[in-house]
Amino acid sequence: MSINGRSFRNALGRFATGVCVITRSTADGRNVGMTANSFASVSLDPPLVLWSIQNSSDLFADYTAAGRFAINVLALEQAHMSHTYARKGDHLLDPEHCKPGRHGTPLIRNALASFECDLFATHPGGDHTIIVGKVRDLDHRPTGKPLLFSAGAYGELH
Ligand SMILES: Cc1cc2nc3c(=O)[nH]c(=O)nc-3n(C[C@H](O)[C@H](O)[C@H](O)COP(=O)(O)O)c2cc1C
Repeated sequence: MSINGRSFRNALGRFATGVCVITRSTADGRNVGMTANSFASVSLDPPLVLWSIQNSSDLFADYTAAGRFAINVLALEQAHMSHTYARKGDHLLDPEHCKPGRHGTPLIRNALASFECDLFATHPGGDHTIIVGKVRDLDHRPTGKPLLFSAGAYGELH
């Protein structure tokens, strides 16, 4: 059976997720962020997480290079950051949105959780590449609602 692209997207959209901004300091010194909802936990020992990036992304080389990145889980009131860092050509981090992490990675201020990772592995995944990170440090706050994403729209937990 051949899979219709529209149906595939619509069916995938029924899986509700949180929303993250993946942050990184690039080799040429830019602080960048990209909105992603492909985040998943992988392993507890060692502590591994993953997300996937479109191979066609302008930031592909930056995010697949060896080094550190951070996965920041957005709170409900941070939906504007999800919009901002999903815009093509607009990935430079607003200094007001971030703070320095303990290991040199920019982190999103007031995120529900931030995972500072070393690039552990990349795996081919069709038109995306799976990026596996080894968590070096983390930070989380116990209060605050997560920003949800489902069927192409943002939502909240009730
Ligand atoms: C809620 C949401 C989730 C997204 N998740 C991903 C993702 O997991 N991986 C990805 O490569 N792009 C994802 N995107 C798209 C990127 O944020 C962004 O639109 C895209 O990277 C823009 O193209 P550029 O990377 O060439 O600038 C998502 C966008 C939104 C709004």
